Amino acid sequence: MARLKLGILISGRGTNMMSIIDACKDEDFPAEVVLVISNRPGAAGLEKAEAAGIKALAIDHKAYEGREAFEEAMTAALEAEGVELVVNAGFMRIVTETFVNHWLGRNINIHPSLLPSFPGIHVHEQALKAGVKISGCTVHFVTAELDGGPIIGQAAVPVMEDDTPDTLAARILVEEHTLYPLCVRMIAEGKVTYDNGRAVFVD
Ligand code: GAR
Repeated sequence: MARLKLGILISGRGTNMMSIIDACKDEDFPAEVVLVISNRPGAAGLEKAEAAGIKALAIDHKAYEGREAFEEAMTAALEAEGVELVVNAGFMRIVTETFVNHWLGRNINIHPSLLPSFPGIHVHEQALKAGVKISGCTVHFVTAELDGGPIIGQAAVPVMEDDTPDTLAARILVEEHTLYPLCVRMIAEGKVTYDNGRAVFVD
């Protein structure tokens, strides 16, 4: 079976990226990473990808006049490698509707909360302030609504009385590293698809 070609978008250290690169090392895993792009040239994840033998590009958003030109450069690079699924892994740029619509149903994101609770930034601060007893992470299709697209999968963790944003983030990150490869596998095997604003699951 042909493996689904993944392009991973990062902005930082890339631990979720590595969880997917590592999952793809198993020849039975139904996807492969063909390209990593960071919008930040100094992102530590770029070196990790290269060390794993993956083509890694810096496409610096600051070098482009406007979001659309930056996104066109990303799309051109992704399409040049035949990317079939764009995987946002700690990618911290808000994208335009043009990019969203181009990749609709073929672009997923991971967010470190149980969406629809706590979208956006300062996620763990939001969760601790709200006093929730359970938090977690969510993988979803990317739509025009920030962190609002149809949910593919979630994992939950307890929130402890003495948690700080950092301790909660670390507990959730462990779950992210299992959940994200699992969701990529489900998409690659055709077990979940995007259809008209919904995630549709089949056996
Ligand atoms: C992860 O916790 C991810 O869920 C979060 O950034 C971190 C990236 O870590 N993403 C977002 O907050 C997106 N809104 P990583 O670079 O080590 O994968």
